[in-house]
Amino acid sequence: MTRPVPDQSGRDAADWVRRDSELLWHPATHFRDLQLSPPLPIRAARGAYLETSSGERILDAISSWWTCLHGHGHPRIVEAISAQAARLDHVMFAGFSHEPALELAEALVEKAPGGRGSYGRVFYADCGSAAIEVALKMSFQYRQQTGEPQRQGLATLTNSYHGETLGALAVSGNRAYREQFGPLLFPVIELPVPSYAEHANQDLLRDRGADAEETQRAIQLLEEHRDHLTALLVEPLIQCAGRMVMPGVGFYRALVEAAQRLGIHVIADEIAVGFGRTGKLFATEWTDPKVAPDFLCLSKGLSGGVLPLSAVLIRNGLDEAFKGDPSRTFLHSHTFTANPITCSAGLASLKLFDDEHPAEHLSALASRLDVLSRQVAEASLHVVARRQAGLVVALEVQPDAGWESRLGPGRLSLELRTAALDRGVLLRPLHDTVYWMPPYCVDDADLQLLAEATSDSIRTVLGR
Ligand SMILES: Cc1ncc(COP(=O)(O)O)c(C=O)c1O
Repeated sequence: MTRPVPDQSGRDAADWVRRDSELLWHPATHFRDLQLSPPLPIRAARGAYLETSSGERILDAISSWWTCLHGHGHPRIVEAISAQAARLDHVMFAGFSHEPALELAEALVEKAPGGRGSYGRVFYADCGSAAIEVALKMSFQYRQQTGEPQRQGLATLTNSYHGETLGALAVSGNRAYREQFGPLLFPVIELPVPSYAEHANQDLLRDRGADAEETQRAIQLLEEHRDHLTALLVEPLIQCAGRMVMPGVGFYRALVEAAQRLGIHVIADEIAVGFGRTGKLFATEWTDPKVAPDFLCLSKGLSGGVLPLSAVLIRNGLDEAFKGDPSRTFLHSHTFTANPITCSAGLASLKLFDDEHPAEHLSALASRLDVLSRQVAEASLHVVARRQAGLVVALEVQPDAGWESRLGPGRLSLELRTAALDRGVLLRPLHDTVYWMPPYCVDDADLQLLAEATSDSIRTVLGR
């Protein structure tokens, strides 16, 4: 595929690119990259494919930043959205309520780890970062109102990512995102994480990481700081933005158990891994289902991945601390909290798990991804590690010595992305880590294309 693509609307493609690059500020994009790799005009999306303005199809192998679950434009989600928009498009959620918000909340707590026995309230927001802010503030305020005002501290994991608003950034251990804003961020306790170069899908079935040195040290740090920590933030099973590091089910279980034993809230960030990505509806289900985090943060796939929505599931009984005197009110609101259209998309998406993408389907897809990613890894000397947890696959590549100094830092990801796009596949490697996180509607031909395009791109950019 050559870019920029011509525009079927009759406008000159170069004109589109010029107008875009003069006016728009794209996320996570340096202005120089706009010249090297201008944004592709997309006019439609259906199933697992995006369609450029010139009609070329691109396999969305990363579900457009891990959102799209069942495929783009799924008729049942589209129908739910349009029916809801015609009925009730929006109403403020303070002082008003509506069926989609209530039904989605009921369905979520029913399906969450431990079910109704675990979660008693749902608080909506509109993006992942906002859900993290809600959980942080709620935990903090809870302590003020339950006689433990000294518990103000937060613990987070090395290499973690929880979003980019200031609170979410402060609790992210990922240096690249924090560096620029250091003086604006409150201090946190950072805990070590076991990092295994390799992780097989089967590793989900064992208690990996439980007795790792890092796990012991992390628990020790929680114990040392037990009296002033209010919450621990953790991404269950996969640190997605942190190059798809998979620290092990045992690590997650041991950490949650330790925090709960010490009276520290667990804020589980399932924003990226929730809704089937690890092969179960929630990643937390890989541990003992009774081990329910105090706050479960959801977004991305929550609306089926088509509209901005997030939710925090709150452990039974926590709300008691916010009752009584009005000064105990939780003062946090977003204009579009619980928008009815987004909630109706979420409900339609949850039903699709039963009807189209049940656990057996996800498991079969995971097995196919396992086979194909092994083939890709074996075909190239440059693939030095392979990790998989359910429907998330990561391939770590290593260029020959001197490659990066020839092309400059940060170029590896861009070169691989461009090579994959030329083969009709959207990949967006995290530095040296190529990963797959496709929508659940992919068929075997799509997966074959994905594997071939990945192999070819690695070969083209790095050689055999
Ligand atoms: C684990 C995790 N938490 C939080 C976020 C932030 O979500 P948002 O970009 O919707 O604010 C992300 C986004 O990628 C994420 O992967």
